[in-house]
Amino acid sequence: MIDIERACIRFKTKTGHVDAVRDVSLRVEEGEVFGLVGESGSGKSTLLRALAGLTPLAGGSIRIGSRPVRRDVQMVFQDPYGALHPRFTVDKTLREPLAINGIGDEDARILDALGEVGLGPAFRFRYPHQLSGGQRQRVSIARALIVEPRVLLLDEPTSALDVSVQAEILNLLRRLHRERKLTMILVSHNLAVIGFLCQRVAVMRNGEIVEQLDVDAVRSRDVAHEYTRRLLLATEGYTRDSATRLEREPGT
Ligand SMILES: Nc1ncnc2c1ncn2[C@@H]1O[C@H](COP(=O)(O)OP(=O)(O)OP(=O)(O)O)[C@@H](O)[C@H]1O
Ligand SMILES: [Mg+2]
Repeated sequence: MIDIERACIRFKTKTGHVDAVRDVSLRVEEGEVFGLVGESGSGKSTLLRALAGLTPLAGGSIRIGSRPVRRDVQMVFQDPYGALHPRFTVDKTLREPLAINGIGDEDARILDALGEVGLGPAFRFRYPHQLSGGQRQRVSIARALIVEPRVLLLDEPTSALDVSVQAEILNLLRRLHRERKLTMILVSHNLAVIGFLCQRVAVMRNGEIVEQLDVDAVRSRDVAHEYTRRLLLATEGYTRDSATRLEREPGT
């Protein structure tokens, strides 16, 4: 579904340039949930933005599906506050991508999308400031899903949220993945989150992928790279806490 071949992304700066992504190759199968981890500044968001067509490549190639249609790839960002237009109602936020993509039957689709993310019709004419953080992130997810993409890119979709709200959103994402057979790439600092949703994970460092693992290997700490081991240790305390919370959530 996703085929990245030796992708390079370079940003020009005042003093020179930053090679944010260096020679990254990655394949993600249709219907797979793929995790991306790595320390801050390692190039995770940059790679996702390139997949969404928001950042050009300096080298290499990215192929998505057989027919690359813009709306086939949608992205959900970390910050549910910044991601929504403050003066747009939920209705307008959801209507916009339909209009851009020339999709009709708007009212029915808006109500469907709201229902799918667990928001009733009462939320339709609210503004972002009238929503909780978790509700805003549900609106962001609805906005991504409303154009029926085949690939969903999630950049730290729950890290700005309270832990119990995090679990709700993760359960929602897992249900959507099951029901829609979506292909997903998920960036997270939290290995419990990765373990909950993903089948495989790549570890990034300094713009490169240093290791790719099955999620079982992450759980059993069966990693080859010292860097990955340190990353695991660094998140361990937090991981244990949120893993327990996820298990306590009723299954979806
Ligand atoms: N527009 C830009 N101009 C210049 N440099 C950039 C730009 N965007 C990102 N970078 C640089 O590229 C590198 C990778 O950034 P990126 O945002 O992809 O990291 P990240 O892995 O998502 O980090 P985090 O976990 O903190 O979100 C960093 O060194 C960053 O400073
Ligand atoms: Mg980032």
